[in-house]
This record gives sequence, C-alpha cells and structure tokens, in this order.
Amino acid sequence: MEPIIEIRGLCKDFRVGFWRKRVRVLYPLDLTVNSGEIFGYLGPNGAGKTTTLKLLTGLILPTAGSVKLLGHDLAEVAAKRQIGFLPEHPYFYDYLTGREFLDLCGRLFSLAAPLRRERIARLLRLTELQTAADQQLRKYSKGMLQRLGLAQALINDPRLVILDEPMSGLDPLGRKAMRDIILQLKAEGRTVFFSSHILPDVEVLCDRVAILAAGRLRDVGRLADILKTPTEDIELTLQRVPDRLLPVLQALAHAPLLYQPGGVLVRLPDEARLDDALRAAMAAGAQVVTVAPLRQTLEEHFLREVQGVAQ
Ligand SMILES: Nc1ncnc2c1ncn2[C@@H]1O[C@H](COP(=O)(O)OP(=O)(O)OP(=O)(O)O)[C@@H](O)[C@H]1O
Ligand SMILES: [Mg+2]
Repeated sequence: MEPIIEIRGLCKDFRVGFWRKRVRVLYPLDLTVNSGEIFGYLGPNGAGKTTTLKLLTGLILPTAGSVKLLGHDLAEVAAKRQIGFLPEHPYFYDYLTGREFLDLCGRLFSLAAPLRRERIARLLRLTELQTAADQQLRKYSKGMLQRLGLAQALINDPRLVILDEPMSGLDPLGRKAMRDIILQLKAEGRTVFFSSHILPDVEVLCDRVAILAAGRLRDVGRLADILKTPTEDIELTLQRVPDRLLPVLQALAHAPLLYQPGGVLVRLPDEARLDDALRAAMAAGAQVVTVAPLRQTLEEHFLREVQGVAQ
C-alpha cells in the first residue's frame, strides 16, 4: 500500500485576542492515508477538521510537524499539482457561467485550451451540470454549486482529492449525487480524503475513518474494526413461545424481554447464551425467526468518543 498522505506530529496554535494568547487547536497528529482509499475525517463542530485540511493544502502553516503528499514535501510544487481541494465555503464569481468558471480554474493550472475543453466536458458530465453549464452561477442551487466546487477540484486531474464537508447543506438527493461522484473518483483510482459530520454518508462511503474531538485524534481505523464492540449483543426473535419458556429466556438475557406482535425479542450477551436459548426454544417448540448480532452504529460510537471532550 502506497501512502498518499503522511502526517507526522502536525500541530497548530492560533494566537487570539488582544493579548495574542496562544490557543492549541490541533494537538500533534499522526495519520497516514493510503492510495485508493476513501478516508473520512470526522469530528463535531470546532474539532479542528478545517484547520487540518488547510494545513494539508498549505493554506496555513503548522506550528510544528510535517505533511507529505504523494511522497513530496508540501512546499514542493509537485505535491500541489496532484491534489484537488474543495474548501468548506468555496467562493464563486456570480456572473461567470459554470463553464467559464471551470475554464478559469483550468487556466490557473496553465492547461492548454484543447485539454481544458476536454476536461471541462468530462467534469460537467461527471457532476451532471451539462444543462446548466452556460448559466450564470448566481442561478445555481446550493447542490449545483457544491458539485461545481467538486468539478473545480478535479480540473487538474488530481490523484488526491481533499474535500471539506462535501455533503453539508445538501438534501438527500444532493448527498446521494455527491456520494456517487466520490465512489466514481475511487473507481478511477483516486484517493479521497474528506471531512464530515454526516455519519450515514461516512458509513456507506469510507474505507477508513479518523475521529477528531477538540483537536485530538480519538480513533482511527477501518469502520468494521472501530464498530466492533468487545461485548457484542445478539438479538434473537422467537415466535410461538410457550409461557413456561419465558423465565428461562429472561434468565439468559441481557435486558428485559421485549414482547412484539406475535413474538418475543431476546437480547443475549454472548454466543454461549445464544446456544442455551436456542436449545431451550427448540425443546419448548418455539419458532426461531431471526438471529442477528447487534453492531453499534457509527453514530453511537462517535457520540461515545466525543462525549465529555470539552471544547
Ligand atoms: N484563524 C483562527 N484563529 C483563531 N482560532 C481559529 C482560527 N481558525 C479556527 N480557529 C478555531 O479552531 C477550532 C477548530 O476550528 P475548525 O474550523 O478547524 O473546526 P472544524 O472541525 O472544521 O469545525 P466545523 O465542523 O464547524 O467546520 C475552533 O475552536 C475555531 O474557533
Ligand atoms: Mg470545518
């Protein structure tokens, strides 16, 4: 696996107020993102996500630490040429059309006119903005602007795409469109690093995530590993349960039995007790409907990680 982003001891202090008091916004951060990954950078408001992304793109300078992108130091032009960036609050020129705006972005990368034309056509197609391409940006909706912002980030055909809250402010359809584009970027072999606090989107998209709270990294890893709890409960649903079986099930269960229309839901703490419950249920002539391990959701994990971390 080839590392695409290598962050070592990256740290940022801001000076605030009249006395220029030093405030630490990002505590020394170590993080590696590999080639071809979709990596989610999660954290509540004010956690330091945008600050990290600005450090990664060289928009602000670190207090300490280093960043390597595609093996190059951030200061080298070679690094910047291969990254695309969608800022949190992109600024658009209202009176340009979508096509003109992308052309301007292409010129900033010194792309020749035929190449710009070809790329712009491809990006308008990818972001489904073909029909709006010749409208002025002041007539674009929030979702269209966000997709144009993404098209802008791709004009230089980057290997690494860094997106700050690409889904924020979008309706479910807009979020779906953005998710599909991000998956398409991965299919094209690009690496995507994006910040978000919209957890369902992260759950369906990301290979790995990092969770940041109050400037500190709380957790990093594959979602499947992060969400695995040491005590994974198992839910057993039974039907046609004779009354005499109920106390037996309750004795094995982790929580009070839940009576549902036509059945009983039993929450068991481990597989050994699942076996006991299944055996007792069979012997008593009850019918097993489902057996399902209960995975905690990213939302539950996220809340646990960031809870009690004061800003
Ligand atoms: N230029 C600055 N000067 C002083 N403090 C700053 C500056 N930029 C950011 N901060 C502070 O750094 C902290 C982290 O901000 P940042 O914008 O990185 O958070 P975030 O995780 O992106 O939050 P959000 O989800 O709201 O976008 C906040 O407390 C913010 O007030
Ligand atoms: Mg932010």
